[in-house]
Amino acid sequence: MNATETLAQVAAECAACTNCGLHAGRKKAVPGVGPAEAEILFIGEGPGYNENEQGLPFVGQAGKLLDEMLASIGLRRAQVFITNVVKCRPPANRDPQPEELAACNEYLERQIAAINPKVIVTLGRFSMAKFLPNARISAVHGQPHTINGRLVVPFFHPAAALHQPDRRPALAADFARLPALIAAATQTEPPHPADEPDEPRQLTLF
Ligand code: URA
Repeated sequence: MNATETLAQVAAECAACTNCGLHAGRKKAVPGVGPAEAEILFIGEGPGYNENEQGLPFVGQAGKLLDEMLASIGLRRAQVFITNVVKCRPPANRDPQPEELAACNEYLERQIAAINPKVIVTLGRFSMAKFLPNARISAVHGQPHTINGRLVVPFFHPAAALHQPDRRPALAADFARLPALIAAATQTEPPHPADEPDEPRQLTLF
């Protein structure tokens, strides 16, 4: 099975999943969206009202801010894969519970393995905790960590930046540093001096 097929299979399984109680309130599962070959994977928390209606991640206010932040570094949504740690909406947008995170983890693991992204950006403390279980987001946001040979960068959740406006500059600053981290993570070997163009090379993200 290739990566696209694996992602489609995971999406189909999410749509029919009954592995935790969240399925009871599900209108549409939100497995995630983006190209199978994306080099950057964003992992949020879980679907909210709009996501549950549409079956797509980050389509509400937090999604608008995410789009703005992506645009600020020259990225479009279509270039990245976006998913969540839980694929069904927690009632009244409450925090996902440990048993729900555990039940959904297998889907996320299969997505990560299929996409094999160069960089994972976690949005909020629940996706951060998957990789950095003892970290405090206010202390480590924006700092790259190498985990299982992959760069993982924890960011504040866009919804937190909406509700606590003092977090917005920090989120913007973390996004601003992302292109350099991506460039470092995607550069397999330094360019040979003879290959250097006369003009400064534009940062190529993909
Ligand atoms: N917040 C999230 O964490 N994920 C979404 O998909 C939407 C809002």
